[in-house]
Amino acid sequence: MESFKNIGIIGAGSMGIGIAQIASNADCNVILFDINKSASEQAVKKLEKVLLRLIEKGKINTIKKDSILNNIKIAESLESMKGSDLIIEAIVENSSIKKDLFSNLESIVSNDCVLATNTSSISITSLASCLKNPIRFIGIHFFNPAPIMSLIEIIPALQTNDNLVKEIHQLLLNWGKTPVVAKDTPGFIVNRIARPFYSEALRIYEEQIADFATIDFAMKHIGRFKMGPFELMDFIGNDVNYAVTKSVFEAFYYDPRYRPSFTQKQYSDAGWYGRKSKKGYYDYNNELSSPSKDEKLLKQIFERILVMLINEAMDALYLGIASEQDIELAMIKGVNYPKGLINWGKEKSFTWVVSKIDALYEIYHEDRYRCSPLLRTKASL
Ligand code: NAI
Repeated sequence: MESFKNIGIIGAGSMGIGIAQIASNADCNVILFDINKSASEQAVKKLEKVLLRLIEKGKINTIKKDSILNNIKIAESLESMKGSDLIIEAIVENSSIKKDLFSNLESIVSNDCVLATNTSSISITSLASCLKNPIRFIGIHFFNPAPIMSLIEIIPALQTNDNLVKEIHQLLLNWGKTPVVAKDTPGFIVNRIARPFYSEALRIYEEQIADFATIDFAMKHIGRFKMGPFELMDFIGNDVNYAVTKSVFEAFYYDPRYRPSFTQKQYSDAGWYGRKSKKGYYDYNNELSSPSKDEKLLKQIFERILVMLINEAMDALYLGIASEQDIELAMIKGVNYPKGLINWGKEKSFTWVVSKIDALYEIYHEDRYRCSPLLRTKASL
């Protein structure tokens, strides 16, 4: 797509350099800017190592490696972004710092240059509001590691031009990615629908129904999930996962369905982040504990988490957060779920899902266990 040949990337952290690699791999001219120039230099050095490993594995050849690296230029200043067709921002997750950056950029680039953010948690509409010309603003949310994860959420702001969504969709397809379109609401698609995977697991643990290893085993053994909730939280980092949960909860005006877990807060406060600190829900310096093999217990755990996930997916569909197809694709490609959740609900039958959630509501009388109206309607058909 010639209209997006010159790509500016701002922020050379793990996301910025990953996005630079994707654009460069697609033969775009990439300009990489970081407030700390040495971060850009370090990032390009790291990318070179990654590419050498890809050569060893036979995934790319030396010519490709050289072209990927040659396509990326490190910028001395923000002014170097002048000729960009599209700029993707991947700096620190702070609304006012991002707004300052976009205001500055608007005074440098042409009126046609598309400005995009990779934010995970800030409203795209609120960021767009800092621009004089907000119709060219859009969210392009990559997943980590960006070159490996194929899913990308495209999030138009209220102000975004409709055509831009189509153009970015086509561009990302051309880059070999799997784009989905999400409404600008907290957590977009994946980070919203996946919440119960963690929160219901934590709740089951807090209620002393099972330990971490057993809950993880239930989801893998019966559900065929690649990782259990606690393994995954340890992998993502408890601090990161807790921050996302907290921001989604606050953004939903404290809807109890998204309430963070006290356990996760404590693990995060203690510095037990997971793999990166060698200790999280599991102690990675010692042998990991083995799960219970009680099939009845495993089934109970799996079904409780599954119905809450299906409910969340159906509610996202009900509220028009994305199309059914995109909701299914997002969970399979964004977090490697073994099946689309809506399809899973159909397989199990919506009547069964509703009966399970209503049974939980009967016990707790908490708003957390309320069925999505769409789920209940489908169950009654
Ligand atoms: P990071 O902390 O690794 O890198 C951020 C980089 O931005 C740093 O090198 C920093 O020097 C630079 N920077 C900070 N302020 C700047 C400014 N005003 N101008 C230019 N450069 C500036 O962060 P990471 O993890 O790469 O995340 C970046 C963005 O991507 C955040 O908005 C984050 O929410 C989002 N994101 C992160 C994901 C993740 O798993 N890490 C996944 C999806 C989105």
